[in-house]
Amino acid sequence: MAQQLDLSTLNGFEGMPAGRFMMPMANDERPEHGHRMPIDENHRFRKHLVRLMMFGLMTKQPVSFVGPAGCGKSREIPQFLERINQAYEFVSCHDGLEAADLFGYERVRGGPDGSGVDTVYIDGPVLRAMRTGIPLVLDERDSLAATVALSLNNVLDGLGYTIPETGEHITAQEGFCVIGTSNTNGGGDENGSYNTSNVHSRSTNSRWLVENVDYLTAAEEENLLKSLVPDDRIDEEAIECLVKFATATRESAAAGEMEHPMATRELVQTVQYSMLINSLANAIGPAYFNKLGSADRGIAESHWSLVFGTDEDGS
Ligand SMILES: Nc1ncnc2c1ncn2[C@@H]1O[C@H](COP(=O)(O)OP(=O)(O)OP(=O)(O)O)[C@@H](O)[C@H]1O
Ligand SMILES: [Mg+2]
Repeated sequence: MAQQLDLSTLNGFEGMPAGRFMMPMANDERPEHGHRMPIDENHRFRKHLVRLMMFGLMTKQPVSFVGPAGCGKSREIPQFLERINQAYEFVSCHDGLEAADLFGYERVRGGPDGSGVDTVYIDGPVLRAMRTGIPLVLDERDSLAATVALSLNNVLDGLGYTIPETGEHITAQEGFCVIGTSNTNGGGDENGSYNTSNVHSRSTNSRWLVENVDYLTAAEEENLLKSLVPDDRIDEEAIECLVKFATATRESAAAGEMEHPMATRELVQTVQYSMLINSLANAIGPAYFNKLGSADRGIAESHWSLVFGTDEDGS
């Protein structure tokens, strides 16, 4: 059964005329299968990411988000799917993952009456998603070994999958699609920040529709952080300075002066921790400064002093 979605109800779509979109793939019948993430009312959606996901869901073409660590790629997906009551299969990709971890494997087990043995095929997440007709999320897809990424080509093309051990051919049910995230575009790590990524073949990479994801705008980040503070425990000016500080580290990273800019993830961590310990300056240490190498830390501390007008480094 199709779900209806009124985009104007999403944070980030303010000003959009109300109107219902039919999401033909979304269904009420299978929400009990797969993963769910509770709705985060503070999540800020980005129009270009939502549009691409809708395109992927409607056309079954694989879509993917590429961008720096902690900018909100992974979270956008389950937050959007939850708005259309859609469960999904989730694979946290890494270099050691094998095709059998994706597609499944044969297992020998005792017969039901205790005599003899049976061979059964245990579906992996890709086949579970295809059989059930729900989206498959390949998080950090660029960290898959190149040959394992290649094994997905037919699935990305919508051609189904034949289980080598049993000969069974599986065609994806209505509702299946693939949504990926990664820090690199599959061409390998360009600056040493993402050394767990792999170089994939151009033919694999060309199958995906890819949107670049950047950090939320400063205004969006300020709104997000303010909405996390239920009272006036952190004043608004301090939050605005914190976002200015994060922006300065990102500008330094873009200029090649530092490796680890402050991510939205770390802004959220700073604000959440500071609500417990009542000090933004002390929360920034665990949330950001203490993760930096010495060169980055020097630069970050000087940005901190400039923005907050003190020498306090938060450590
Ligand atoms: N659009 C957003 N709205 C609300 N919170 C956000 C948003 N984007 C990021 N965040 C915050 O930042 C955190 C990190 O987001 P997410 O896990 O999606 O990052 P990512 O881009 O997938 O990073 P990585 O490449 O390290 O996996 C979230 O848990 C959330 O707290
Ligand atoms: Mg992620």
